Amino acid sequence: MKAVAVYPGTREVKIIETPEPRISKPNEVLVRMLEVGVCGTDKEICHFDYGTPPAGKDHLVLGHESLGEVVETGPAVRDLQKGDLVVTMVRRPCDHPDCFACRAGRQDFCYTGDFKERGIKELDGFMTELVVDEDKYFFRVPAALRDIAVLTEPLTIAEKALAEALQIQKRLPWGEPSDQSDSYTHKAVVLGAGPVGLLGAFALVVAGFKTFVYSRDAKPNASADLVEKIGATYISSTTHSISQLAAEVGNIDLVYEATGASKFAFETLRALGTNGVFIFTGVPGRKGPVELDTDTIMRNLVLKNQVVFGSVNAGRGAYLRAIEDLGKFAQRWPAETRALITGRYAMEDFSKLVLGTAPGIKNVIKISA
Ligand code: BGC
Ligand code: ZN
Repeated sequence: MKAVAVYPGTREVKIIETPEPRISKPNEVLVRMLEVGVCGTDKEICHFDYGTPPAGKDHLVLGHESLGEVVETGPAVRDLQKGDLVVTMVRRPCDHPDCFACRAGRQDFCYTGDFKERGIKELDGFMTELVVDEDKYFFRVPAALRDIAVLTEPLTIAEKALAEALQIQKRLPWGEPSDQSDSYTHKAVVLGAGPVGLLGAFALVVAGFKTFVYSRDAKPNASADLVEKIGATYISSTTHSISQLAAEVGNIDLVYEATGASKFAFETLRALGTNGVFIFTGVPGRKGPVELDTDTIMRNLVLKNQVVFGSVNAGRGAYLRAIEDLGKFAQRWPAETRALITGRYAMEDFSKLVLGTAPGIKNVIKISA
């Protein structure tokens, strides 16, 4: 079968022929890949800045944002059957007996760093025709979501982050958004209008936040249109400085950073409101040091009871909530949700996607129909 593989040693990315995987344990499931999304992480891997092939191999099969269809199940598999649509989890636990996180099935909080990630770190990914894994790593998706379900994995990033933020805000009696009109209005700012940012904005609106997306591109543009159509506000940094943004929003209760641009993110941290939470999700490349007004940042953190945290990857709960939220998005904004996927390409066209020459928001590789 075909697969898109990255060879860090020879700095090549190419389509290869590789043997079909087979079920070898009773709890395994064989899945035919339908669609695989491409993101910034894939691009970094294809620039050989990130990513590690499996032990003893010179190449890594790319792809971690997937949608597939169950072809065959092992005899011990109870909850999945042939024909089910499934999304596959990315991260696998480390082997250390004393890693509490991995032993608790929360490898997204792995202590040792020896976790593995399909398509990223030491395990082959999903940009291929067939995939085998244990049943517990698959999540069933309703057939009605087939045309958008490949967005599940990037949405899990927001779901995990949001769940953590809401736990933190439980410190405030009015900390959780509710739909009562007389309650406190929770205001969120999303930094960046790429797929992770836009999916975050969709999730924040559904969670009851008054949501703003702050991004570089001037209006009008396609992402700004989508933002406005879901009832959020798009603000461009070409027309609004960070202090003008804060003046427009009011007390910023939550910032969801989805750009990976550290200087821009830390500058925006200065605008975080009283009792606010700032969430980093981007993984910046290591560039040079930048100058920062640390006195203001530290004063604000203390005098305004602020919390700053980072969040990576996602656990089971976040996958389940992502699938549920995708259903809500599809109901409230069917056209806008579908519009997040701007292109479907053949595997042969992978280089347009991983080298970033294809325009649009989320582009996917269509593996099979
Ligand atoms: C993936 C995450 C992963 C992270 C770091 C992201 O693109 O969506 O699942 O943990 O990269 O490797
Ligand atoms: Zn990704």
